[in-house]
Amino acid sequence: MKIAPSVLAADYSRLDREIEKIKTADFVHLDVMDGHFVPNISFGAPVIKALRKLTEQVFDCHLMISHPLRYIKDFADAGADIVTFHLECEDDPDEVIDEILKYGMKPSMSVKPGTPAEKLLPYLDRLYMVLVMTVEPGFGGQKFMPEMMEKVKYLKKVRPELQAEVDGGISEATIGQCRDAGVDICVAGTAVFRAENPAEMIKRLSGR
Ligand code: DX5
Ligand code: ZN
Repeated sequence: MKIAPSVLAADYSRLDREIEKIKTADFVHLDVMDGHFVPNISFGAPVIKALRKLTEQVFDCHLMISHPLRYIKDFADAGADIVTFHLECEDDPDEVIDEILKYGMKPSMSVKPGTPAEKLLPYLDRLYMVLVMTVEPGFGGQKFMPEMMEKVKYLKKVRPELQAEVDGGISEATIGQCRDAGVDICVAGTAVFRAENPAEMIKRLSGR
């Protein structure tokens, strides 16, 4: 299992030290929120660009924004590797995928808990990854929704080669269900950054 610690749960006053804590993780998960698509504001491309100087790890950027199309170039310039946007956004998904590919990044789409996985079917051919939300997007520290594992199973069945990521409420108590469902990458904010020893927690969660 690959682990993607979410910087949303980090101490923003010392991001250099926080990135150091998670240097053994496969991905760095970066939650961008616009206060419109979700009722919270986090950070944008300038912060990601600053973090890019600190590590060569894969930057997994999760855009919880209403108009991703306008900002794809900014995230490319900031050094994003994987760009996830939401099916429920206000732009045309094919146009957003085109734009992500244009800049040589890997496209990924996410669905909120209330959106059926079947809605992703028309786009799967063009995607590197799918992100199944296991909480309502917007905030860290929420409770994992086990019923979302049915979406993961369905997507891995129709497209086994697709990377499946889950996000929200992942901990040692819930990661077993993710593993059983066929998840490839687990995002973990609170579990990693609130752990006494984040490196040890990453190791435990990844099952290594
Ligand atoms: C929620 C974000 C998550 C969040 C997860 O909208 O997309 O990435 O940081 O936090 P935890 O792991 O604490 O549920
Ligand atoms: Zn996220």
